[in-house]
Amino acid sequence: MHTILLVCLALAAAVHPALGQDALRGKRLYHEVGRLSGAGVSCIDCHGGLPGALHGIGRVGDDPARIDYAIGAVTQMTPLRGRLSRQDMADLAAYVARPAVPSPEPRVSTSGAASLPYMPDRLEFAGAATGMVRLSNAGAVALRLDARPALAGEHAPRFAIAEATCAEGLVLGEGESCTVTIAFVPDAGPGLRLAVLRLAHDWIGGATSVPLIGRLSP
Ligand code: HEC
Repeated sequence: MHTILLVCLALAAAVHPALGQDALRGKRLYHEVGRLSGAGVSCIDCHGGLPGALHGIGRVGDDPARIDYAIGAVTQMTPLRGRLSRQDMADLAAYVARPAVPSPEPRVSTSGAASLPYMPDRLEFAGAATGMVRLSNAGAVALRLDARPALAGEHAPRFAIAEATCAEGLVLGEGESCTVTIAFVPDAGPGLRLAVLRLAHDWIGGATSVPLIGRLSP
């Protein structure tokens, strides 16, 4: 009887490594458990980025019980009460122990009108023109795009997606990238035209957003 149980447990652990400790999932939780659980605050907001040791977070490595205790005992952590499962705590503790765990690393670069100051993570226009946004994955774990590129924001109608290799379902392996060509279609009148290109994906934040800025002089 006992032997059968042990064999089953061993098999479950082998088939479902996720039931053990998943440092990659823990990394995501550390950064956005506030958004995912409704708590509103995430570990990184108070404990800072890892590796680091703000408020003793470094002592948590592979010790999920310490997280459980802290959630009950630390006043500042009250918003997290009742929102983390045992699996969440195990994964968080695994991440604290292995902050260098390979993960997706979305990066944005842009190329646009050459006369404007080079801002690598946003796209600026001074008049009708096109510019390009490149999303790349600098991490060793694949990044998956969850939706096609979308425009949002106050002046979204002033921008258009002219061409895109970024597409729903696209998987970017390490070092791979995709692009979106944006056309700025100015209307009359001076001032700023602001929008955002949203690239939804399966990593922290659920999306990478790239500001689009049109500056029209009088
Ligand atoms: C709103 C701020 C805040 C958030 C969010 C927060 N903590 Fe804390 N946490 C603290 C503070 C402040 C302390 C230190 C309390 C002290 O030293 O008296 C602490 C202490 C701890 C401790 C105790 C460290 C020890 O010495 O044993 C652990 C473990 C811990 N936090 C884990 C986490 C984890 C994991 C998360 C995310 C799920 C998290 N905390 C989110 C503020 C926060």
